[in-house]
Amino acid sequence: MVTEPSLMETRAFNQHLKLVEGWYWLVRSKNVRRKKAIAVTLTGRELVVYRTEGDQVVVFDAYCPHMGAHLAMGKVHGECLRCYFHNWAFDSEGLCVEVPSMEQPPEGLRVRAWPARDKHGLIWAWTGSGQPPHEVPEPPQLKQTDYVSALGRRSNIECHPHVVMINAIDENHFQTVHRIPGGLMNLETRVESDQNIQFINSAKPPSETRLQRWVSSFYKGSIFYELSYWYGTNGLVSMGPDFLRMYFMFALRPTAEGSTEGQIVVFTPRRKGILGWCLNHLILFMTRMVGRYFSSGDTRVFQTIRFNYQNPIAADRTVLTFIRHLEDQPLTNWIQEEKTSAS
Ligand code: FES
Ligand SMILES: [Fe+2]
Repeated sequence: MVTEPSLMETRAFNQHLKLVEGWYWLVRSKNVRRKKAIAVTLTGRELVVYRTEGDQVVVFDAYCPHMGAHLAMGKVHGECLRCYFHNWAFDSEGLCVEVPSMEQPPEGLRVRAWPARDKHGLIWAWTGSGQPPHEVPEPPQLKQTDYVSALGRRSNIECHPHVVMINAIDENHFQTVHRIPGGLMNLETRVESDQNIQFINSAKPPSETRLQRWVSSFYKGSIFYELSYWYGTNGLVSMGPDFLRMYFMFALRPTAEGSTEGQIVVFTPRRKGILGWCLNHLILFMTRMVGRYFSSGDTRVFQTIRFNYQNPIAADRTVLTFIRHLEDQPLTNWIQEEKTSAS
């Protein structure tokens, strides 16, 4: 048994009132049309998202710093959002640039703006205090590649995203839940940065039986299965034989109550021409199906689990590594600030 008393009193892991600094998805891109503003909630904090005439996506705290009207009722003019109530205008940085009843707006008055991106078919907000030190995550294997993506299923799960995330490195459960024979998984850790940890499978395919030898002919080296985690809530999974690599992103966010809102994104390298277009779509479809298969067995557990990690064992080493890496990551005052500004 591994002695790990700190598992019972974690700072960041499985703490739904402490949002880890990072990129979080808010809404599907297509739902934020040009010149439109919509209301969204991220982990208990209310936000407004709008798309400027110049197609830039902007995210603000939801309530107007004048009297607190919800800014999603406002109108987009050029790059600015104008509050419905008294028509104060805020530029895309959140600075108040016009108060119709005054010659000059109060100096330096602003609504809090959050760095935003439109990527992978989703709108994202950076929840840290300064400018983001990196861009929205993408599959590390495709960084230098032109790729296409598609949105998969959106889900609600009754436990914290960190608990969902450890599933993909929980080597034991591949046998018990997914019926994958043992010995195919030996995950090695690579810490890429303070906020990014990767797990790489180094197990070679067995080649004792004729069937195993046939399967192993699809892998030049080890069985390809790699994880790249950001902030404990964004998991990029890459897997498959050499001739068909599949790439998924599990983009999760905690609700203020501690459950999970998840969105799957699938990727494939862009192939050119009409045949390439058909192949891209076929592979994206198949990737979605594989993602659905793997998440379905686990979903049953996650809808009823009361996560209480009392008895870690040596075989849980990858899970423990994940938790330790997460524990050192910067936390935001996301929910406390929202409560303060609302009171
Ligand atoms: S409440 Fe927004 S301008 Fe007055
Ligand atoms: Fe699983």
